[in-house]
Amino acid sequence: MLRAMALTVALALQDALTRLERVPSSPRSDAEELRSRVLGTGRGALRLLAARELTAAQGETFERWLTRREAGEPVQYITGRAAFRDLDLAVDSRVLVPRPETEGLVEAVLVVLAAERTRGEMPRVLDLGTGSGAIALALAQEAPHARVTAVDASEGALQVARANAEACALADRVTFVHGDWFGGVAEDERFEVVVSNPPYIAESDADSLPADVRDWEPHEALFSGPDGLDAPREIVDTAPRHLVAGGLLALELSESHAHEVAAWLEGAHDWRDVRVLDDLSGRPRVLLARRERGPAIAPAQWGEERR
Ligand SMILES: C[S@@+](CC[C@H](N)C(=O)[O-])C[C@H]1O[C@@H](n2cnc3c(N)ncnc32)[C@H](O)[C@@H]1O
Repeated sequence: MLRAMALTVALALQDALTRLERVPSSPRSDAEELRSRVLGTGRGALRLLAARELTAAQGETFERWLTRREAGEPVQYITGRAAFRDLDLAVDSRVLVPRPETEGLVEAVLVVLAAERTRGEMPRVLDLGTGSGAIALALAQEAPHARVTAVDASEGALQVARANAEACALADRVTFVHGDWFGGVAEDERFEVVVSNPPYIAESDADSLPADVRDWEPHEALFSGPDGLDAPREIVDTAPRHLVAGGLLALELSESHAHEVAAWLEGAHDWRDVRVLDDLSGRPRVLLARRERGPAIAPAQWGEERR
């Protein structure tokens, strides 16, 4: 329990740190995030507010949140909020908590969109497995010339994503579709960019995941068959039918799979310019490839390919 004496911001942090030491993960970062969300301030302002007393309501909320975190619930589900690039998104147990690595995937797509801006096109972007809408909404916000379609097989996730789009004033820029990967778009619909952070964890690796991921985040957002590659395989196999010639495929993958998936594309007639990018810790996490010009898998598209 939190102490009965007046609870300052500094004391609240001290208590939280002591209690969260027992929860694997990052106690300081978790404690600071909970405390700043209780106060409704950014984390940068916390030091300036160290001597301020929490109101009774803030103290009660903080106590409730710490108890939930001690039980292993992810901080973002407790506060209901997750920061992603310039967005502050609503999240709950229907969606994966958006990760910093995925901000790198968005960055890689933005670099390509910016480089090709001179074409004066309105690029069509497809986000597969949108979850909270993090990738789709960040791209819509940061590449205002793009038209974004976002697909998810989970109705619950789409409810969260649509609410985020409304809250971020981006609802008219992103179309949300319920569906099974490319099954969510028309057979002949094509895009300049297909981006996805698909589930990529092997079911057999469940026991080695941190408990706050395995026990709290949606299984359909994490696991992808016996080797973790069911979803990446499906996306890579079908993407050529939905990308224009020269179109970009951008995938987030686990560090143990990125080069393996890249090897599927290297030398395959549908792909060129296959690249794997490292994240900030030097781990290979993002795969980029361009759709090769030439006959698509679907004969219906051959006429369009030659134009
Ligand atoms: C790893 S999460 C990514 C969520 C979000 N894009 C992000 O990066 O934070 C994968 C998402 O794929 C969705 N998903 C799983 N299977 C799917 C399928 N067959 N078709 C479409 N979406 C699927 C899950 O519901 C989940 O939202």
